[in-house]
Amino acid sequence: MTTARSLPADLVETEAPAVPEFCVISGAQVQQALNGREAQIVKLVETIYRVHGDGDSVNPPSYFLRFPDRPSSRIIALPASIGGQVRVDGLKWISSFPGNVAAGVPRASAVLILNDHDTGYPFACLESSIVSASRTAASAALAADWLSRDRPRPKRVGFLGVGLIARYIHTFLRGTGWSFDDIGVHDLSADSAAGFRGYLEQSDGGNITVYDSAEELIRSSDLVVIATIAAEPHVTDPTWFDHHPVVLHVSLRDLAPEILLTATNIVDDVEHCQKANTSTHLAELSSGGREFLDGTLDDVMAGRVSVPADRTVVFSPFGLGVLDLAVGKFVYDEIARSGELNVIDGFFHERQRHGASAPTSGLSCAK
Ligand SMILES: NC(=O)c1ccc[n+]([C@@H]2O[C@H](COP(=O)([O-])OP(=O)(O)OC[C@H]3O[C@@H](n4cnc5c(N)ncnc54)[C@H](O)[C@@H]3O)[C@@H](O)[C@H]2O)c1
Repeated sequence: MTTARSLPADLVETEAPAVPEFCVISGAQVQQALNGREAQIVKLVETIYRVHGDGDSVNPPSYFLRFPDRPSSRIIALPASIGGQVRVDGLKWISSFPGNVAAGVPRASAVLILNDHDTGYPFACLESSIVSASRTAASAALAADWLSRDRPRPKRVGFLGVGLIARYIHTFLRGTGWSFDDIGVHDLSADSAAGFRGYLEQSDGGNITVYDSAEELIRSSDLVVIATIAAEPHVTDPTWFDHHPVVLHVSLRDLAPEILLTATNIVDDVEHCQKANTSTHLAELSSGGREFLDGTLDDVMAGRVSVPADRTVVFSPFGLGVLDLAVGKFVYDEIARSGELNVIDGFFHERQRHGASAPTSGLSCAK
């Protein structure tokens, strides 16, 4: 594994851990590093879920910055630290401004800061909407695989809400070996549905149907991907799920409690999911407990929880900062290997505690 690149030895104080250089990684570089790597990223996400399940990570609650004058918008901070072989700390800072879409600008934008495990120094700032979409899609593809192992492999997929995240999830499903006979699409916006249909026509040979209602879409799909921006449940009738599909509830707030209470419920992290008015949070409030939660994806992968074929299974991933860190570090390592890191010379400038004339003392003195 590549570690953070270091400043030339003559610029580093003796006895000190090396101060890393700081680099900036553009969206174009991120995309190039991840392009065609879907299977590798899904494997990485699987590893990180296992590391997190083993307790070798720190992933505090996400912090939601909201604005009284812009109630539909938010910026979320996800600090995290991963142990295992990755060993990196950092912060994802991601905005969601749904009003952007009408102006032709993507809803979400993000940066990811990677901090060096040994010194704490930030050593990279990455454009991170692509990292975020990729880790979300990788986690969805991983869940689709594990949650359908004890039932016939779904051949009819339905996408409810078809923006950027739906496109990434489709790409990651295809990139990890899934193929579909039928692909259903439903979106409140005819433009979104048409745009996604156009993307599918270029990238998939399946039979594509745009449905007028969420009910028709769900009833026609064995694998349902929900990636809307709904703030509260709008899918409320449990009979739509009588055929027991696998549901990837990525947008977290679409399903009414009565649907979750009759399903097998798998999450990425229980404490993370049970807040911020997610559907699983609402189901806890309405049922008075968490008994309806069957476990985490790590529990399923480790064989501690089984997923019956004769029930609907819903995967609700809150989205863990550790995944962003791992994918961001993967991108950093790829670019470092290719020698194309954009280093900001002199980014860390004030590096001697008592000024340039004082005897040097390493960073380690501060410990
Ligand atoms: N769980 C995670 O880890 C995670 C990570 C990233 C994004 N997300 C979530 O994924 C969702 C999708 O993100 P995106 O970037 O693709 O957004 P986007 O704005 O690009 O697309 C969302 C689409 O949903 C449609 N939509 C909204 N309400 C709908 C409804 N009731 N029925 C059908 N369609 C509806 C919109 O018209 C739009 O086309 C967001 O809610 C985001 O918060 C979750």
